[in-house]
Parts: sequence; C-alpha cells; structure tokens
Amino acid sequence: MQLVPLSDSVGVEVRGVSIVDVASDHAAYLAVRAAFEEHSVLLFRDQPVADDIQAAFSRSFGPLERTKVASLGAGGFYSILKNIAPDGSLVPDDHREALVARANQLWHTDSSFKATPALASVLSARTIPGHGGETQFASTRKAWERLPAATQARLRDAVVTHSYANSRDQVSPNLANAEERAALPPVQWRLSWRNPVNRRRALYVASHAYAIEGMSDNEAKATLSGLIEDATREEFTYLHRWRAGDVVMWDNRATMHRGRPWPGDAARHMVRTTISATAADGLEEVRGAMARAA
Ligand code: OGA
Ligand code: MN
Repeated sequence: MQLVPLSDSVGVEVRGVSIVDVASDHAAYLAVRAAFEEHSVLLFRDQPVADDIQAAFSRSFGPLERTKVASLGAGGFYSILKNIAPDGSLVPDDHREALVARANQLWHTDSSFKATPALASVLSARTIPGHGGETQFASTRKAWERLPAATQARLRDAVVTHSYANSRDQVSPNLANAEERAALPPVQWRLSWRNPVNRRRALYVASHAYAIEGMSDNEAKATLSGLIEDATREEFTYLHRWRAGDVVMWDNRATMHRGRPWPGDAARHMVRTTISATAADGLEEVRGAMARAA
C-alpha cells in the first residue's frame, strides 16, 4: 500500500489496495483503517464501483447507517444524491433534490444530527458533470490544533446542540418537512471529538450545530461561525475533482465537507454509504452531554 498526499492539509490517495481487498482481506482492512485514523480522507481511484461492493467495503469499518426518512433510498443503506428524475430528465432548481444539493453545499459533517452520529462516509461517483460538482474537505483536527490553548480549554467540553432542521432552514424553510422534524429531534454533542486511537482531538461542529450550553444564541452563533470559518479557509482544504471509478471515504469525527455547485443542465449522481460511530470510535466521550441529559 502506498499513500500519496492529496493536499498540504488533509487526505491521501491509497494505491496498491482496492476497496474489494479491504472487504475480503483483514490485513488490507487494518492497513487502510490505520490510514483512515491518521489521514481522515482516503481516495481510491479506478475502483469497480457498484452498490454491493461499496457496502461490503463500508461494512468492514463498522455498522452501516440506515438512510433517514424522506430521502432517496430512505431506510436502506444507500444515500442517493442525484438531480435526475425517474424519466431521465433533470430536476428544476426548486425541486427538493436540487435544494438537498444546495444544503450539501454548506460545510457539514454527516449525521451529527442523528441519535447515533457517523464515524465515516463513503461516496462514489456514478454520473459526473463536466464542470463543477467537486467535493471539498477540511480537517477539523488541524482546525482544533490551530486554536489557542485557552480557547481549547474553554470549548473542549462545551455542549453543542445539532439538528437537521437547522441546516435545512438555512436553504429553504420547507426543506425539512414535518416527518423529518419529528424523526430527527435536536441532539447534543461535545464540541470536540477525541480519536481514541491517536488521542488527537478535532472540532466537532458544522452546519447542523446551532446552540452552545451556557451561551446566548448570539454568542453561540458567533462562536460557531468563527470556528467553521477558520476551519475551512481555502488553504486548509482539499478539493476533490471526481473521475469515474473514484471512491472517497472520510472521517466525520475529524473533517467537514461540502459539495460544490455545478451547472443545472448537467446530470450528477452520487451514492453514499455511511458507517455509524461506536464506543471504539470515541462515541461515549462525545456523547457525554447526551448521557447527562438522559
Ligand atoms: C455527502 C455529501 C457532497 C457532494 O454525500 O455526504 O455531502 O459533493 N456530498 O455530493
Ligand atoms: Mn455530506
């Protein structure tokens, strides 16, 4: 296995090991798992992309998450992001799937709004637009490490509230519907997530986060947007330009990501599988706040 850096700040391309190797060979899994813990974003090029292969690869890392209510593929293992209607036409700008794409263009970490948040996400490209439609990543571990020690000490265990509606409301007031609001009540996590393997901490906030215990709404909003802005400064990011056969995996504990826009007259179709966090991934510590509330 060779690891080739994707940027100065985050991510490596994995060469010499395929997603099929990871699913079928424990030694290959362990090598890739170590790279995942260390580098947070992994790119595999020229893969045999198919749903079942992607799921088998993903399952090596932990339990697969079920896709939330009211999304394409709801209740299954595959989150489908596409602007293509069943009849093959492209959806208009105000269509739900177009708004979902816009919400994905906010800096976020997947599933921080769920009762069990995500360890990792695996995304593959099925149809790629000619221009745009990249996915951009920032290391929240590096962002945490850039904070002054006094800020780290003050914020480390701060209790942050996340909700699905909070990020959707930034795009359109009706994007999160009643079914989603009922199924996905707000959840609380510590502001930083410590990786139990290497003990490195990462900032754990993004577009779903909106309140901080003990702070006024204004102070919390200013704190969160300041943290997110610094974390995602251009020079700290990796912009992934998709090619056919690409599979990208990222650590939701240690990164933020966002989709980038593309022309409305071009098709884009992506499939994501998501791995739930477990105790071995540091979940109990970040959950401290939830346990206290229960
Ligand atoms: C995702 C996501 C962005 C993109 O699948 O979780 O945010 O570029 N995707 O499609
Ligand atoms: Mn996402």
